[in-house]
Amino acid sequence: MSYNINITKVEQSKVDALDFDNIPLGTTFTDHMFICDYENGVWVNPRIVPMGMIPTHPAAMALHYGQAIFEGMKAYKDAQGEPMLFRPDQNAKRLNTSADRMGMPYFPEDLFVEGLKELVSLEHNWIPPKDGSALYLRPFMYADEPFIGMRAATHYKFIIMASPAGPFFSKRIKLWAEKQFIRAAHGGTGEAKAAGNYAAAIRPTELAKAKGYDQVLWLDAAEHKYIQEVGTMNIFFKINGAFITPKLDGSVLDGITRKSVIDVLRDKGFEVTERLITLKEIKEASQNGTLEEAFGAGTAVGIAYIQEIGLEGETIHVSDESPVGLEINNTLDAIKTGKQEDKFGWMLKTRKELA
Ligand code: COI
Repeated sequence: MSYNINITKVEQSKVDALDFDNIPLGTTFTDHMFICDYENGVWVNPRIVPMGMIPTHPAAMALHYGQAIFEGMKAYKDAQGEPMLFRPDQNAKRLNTSADRMGMPYFPEDLFVEGLKELVSLEHNWIPPKDGSALYLRPFMYADEPFIGMRAATHYKFIIMASPAGPFFSKRIKLWAEKQFIRAAHGGTGEAKAAGNYAAAIRPTELAKAKGYDQVLWLDAAEHKYIQEVGTMNIFFKINGAFITPKLDGSVLDGITRKSVIDVLRDKGFEVTERLITLKEIKEASQNGTLEEAFGAGTAVGIAYIQEIGLEGETIHVSDESPVGLEINNTLDAIKTGKQEDKFGWMLKTRKELA
């Protein structure tokens, strides 16, 4: 289906004021955003407008009952400076999986991709040229109907914002294995990219940071025994030459970087098994010398190399180097920036809107 996306441009871009060498994630926003409204059972008025405030009624249902979901993805430039998106179809699908769980309407997947292409084309000057940097894209949907009462809202907004970002972690990271708080239980919302999942993680993450850790390693809700995922990423372990990652059981986020890492690892000849993983077996592998490396994988962080895992009274040493993690990171970066053949067919080219 072809959509008529109305575009209102800013008079003067702010891009010239950006210091491309110093762009922490999420602090700078581009000139424009994409917006679409859900009214009377249909998505209407897709448009690109100058980035700015959105008037919100104090009774907007997302503020009270949390019907809010989001995606994270990145745009890169290829060797010719053409903007490219990494697997946007996967984000479009996952948004609708989240929408389904949260009782929200589906957003048309072709409009999701079309909106991204138009926005990135318009904002191509904001894509940082440096290796490890990218234009982070944040599609999200929330209930903006003013209503007090518990039911699915009838009005929603879908918005895409863009924010240039440098590397997330510049060093190896330490995780805190969390046994007091949980992220997701079976039957809950763990597989949805729902705002509330992140809200519930904020306090435990702050406590972990106060102890000197970078992010929380989440364990299963019932026994605190099985590893689920990390604060903003999925996790992989290399034991005895083979990789394992927690299987998707409804309480683990179906990460797009996760599935891409699995494909790249297998393509390089590594065995990858998705299964239940206990913290105990990771500890034993560390003690008997078979734990070779571990890394996190997520859109914002890319690949984050894990140094150690802390838990009450002890520390599990993971590794001081992550040669395979580094190789996977380099391969993914090379595919995303067109330096390596896109044999998986992941990249979607967009175009440069000329000023
Ligand atoms: C992402 O990796 O894109 C995420 O959504 C994590 C975010 C909380 C920084």
